[in-house]
Amino acid sequence: MGQPLIIRREGHVEHVVLNRPDVRNAFNPALIEALRVWAVSAAASTDARAAVLSGAGKAFCAGGDLAAMSATVDASRDENLEDAARMAAMFEALDHLPIPLVGRVHGAALGGGLGLASVCDIVVAADDAVFGFTEVKLGIVPSVISPYALAKIGRSAARELFLTGARFDAARAREIGLVHAVVPEERLDETVNRYVSEILSAGPGAVRQAKALIRRVAGRPAGEVSVFTAETLADRRVSREGQEGMRAFLEKRQASWVVR
Ligand code: COA
Repeated sequence: MGQPLIIRREGHVEHVVLNRPDVRNAFNPALIEALRVWAVSAAASTDARAAVLSGAGKAFCAGGDLAAMSATVDASRDENLEDAARMAAMFEALDHLPIPLVGRVHGAALGGGLGLASVCDIVVAADDAVFGFTEVKLGIVPSVISPYALAKIGRSAARELFLTGARFDAARAREIGLVHAVVPEERLDETVNRYVSEILSAGPGAVRQAKALIRRVAGRPAGEVSVFTAETLADRRVSREGQEGMRAFLEKRQASWVVR
């Protein structure tokens, strides 16, 4: 049995590959812990500027490991709670990653696999990939992933898709905001790389701050956040990075942080 998660660093980019291809990268306790530990360490890295999450083999991720989950019938309620809490902690750590997380989805993203897509900032999907919040078909519920999935697709799509467990295609996933680009599978890497290049040509601190800003501002009335948003702009434009970015534009040169 190999490592459940393969992590590779290329320049400023962390590449994270779910590596349980025989079970379509279903996540068991070892993979859940490896993902959480990676998210915590990537969050602490000062020179990481983007991360790409993908799956080895035929599919991105088939969600929770159904064999492991069904075996929990023999565990106590406390043990079951701890197990579910570890999964929740993994999603929370990924969702709190301060750098952009780009999801590369091929084959299938089902159940918790769609939860993983939901905590990505940008998702690129193969046009033949299949999606679904299939939990109710299995007699379970998309519970731990619900905050992240709901934040992406809203109540209306959730009421349809959580309640039916129906599978849907990449075009629909894009329509409801789970996916940002749909391309033939052979163009997945190129499209992911284009997003990563865009990120690497932006100010590293500005990108992190933009991500934090979304978390802080989303769902709140403008009046409630106006002091915060004004302060953020005021501080940013006099920051070293803000000055470098604006001067580079005016001097018709590349900013110092651009990676080509
Ligand atoms: N947990 C554990 N094992 C899983 C799994 C899961 N979520 N999803 C797939 N597997 C296993 C299968 O049991 C099979 O094992 P086997 O080779 O011992 O028979 C192996 O992975 C390959 O699955 P298979 O269905 O033959 O592959 P496929 O490429 O034809 O289809 C999927 C891939 C992902 C579309 C399909 O496996 C599927 O629908 N899985 C269920 C996903 C789901 O509903 N997840 C929600 C969990 S909350």
